[in-house]
Amino acid sequence: MTMDTHTLLKPDATKPSASGPGACHMSRREFLFAAGTTSVMMVSAGPGLAQIPAMVATYPKKLVARLSDLKQDRPIDFQYPDKGEYSESMIVKLGVEGGGGIGPNRDVVAFNYFCTHQGGDMTGSYKGDTKSLGACPLHLSTYDLTRHGILISGQAYQSLPQVLLELNGNDVFAVAVFGLIYGRFDNLQG
Ligand code: FES
Repeated sequence: MTMDTHTLLKPDATKPSASGPGACHMSRREFLFAAGTTSVMMVSAGPGLAQIPAMVATYPKKLVARLSDLKQDRPIDFQYPDKGEYSESMIVKLGVEGGGGIGPNRDVVAFNYFCTHQGGDMTGSYKGDTKSLGACPLHLSTYDLTRHGILISGQAYQSLPQVLLELNGNDVFAVAVFGLIYGRFDNLQG
């Protein structure tokens, strides 16, 4: 399977544990890869960078927006990968290229709303001037939506889960999540 949307880096299984054999230091993302159904996709390594093969956990495809309806810096909310707790997410046209972005300018991205630190709800906290989500109402974490939701500042130590998108004509579909959604031991609550 190939697609021109996402940015995921496959965990390097060849690297030894920092604490030696037998130690378990699986990150949230590594856990996701281990627990989810994975597919190999061609994904971009970031704005302007080449595509690389990567493993992603894929979920049921869901129509979340029409490309022509998206206005710059005006997020549209949706739920993914289900309608359960912590599934609230947003899609936004950044106006600048973002990692994993789709559309002619690769500037349409989507993210889960819940802070990876302790689950602060960041609904409505998108900032168009910095293309960021946050600050989290609990401990002020802020995430960069142009770079796969990496942490800009605050208490969190994991990136914001990115909802991976696929474009088919004018229809924008959510197809996967990169990162473990807060409050879940797997993204499908299985
Ligand atoms: S819950 Fe968001 S920074 Fe702590």
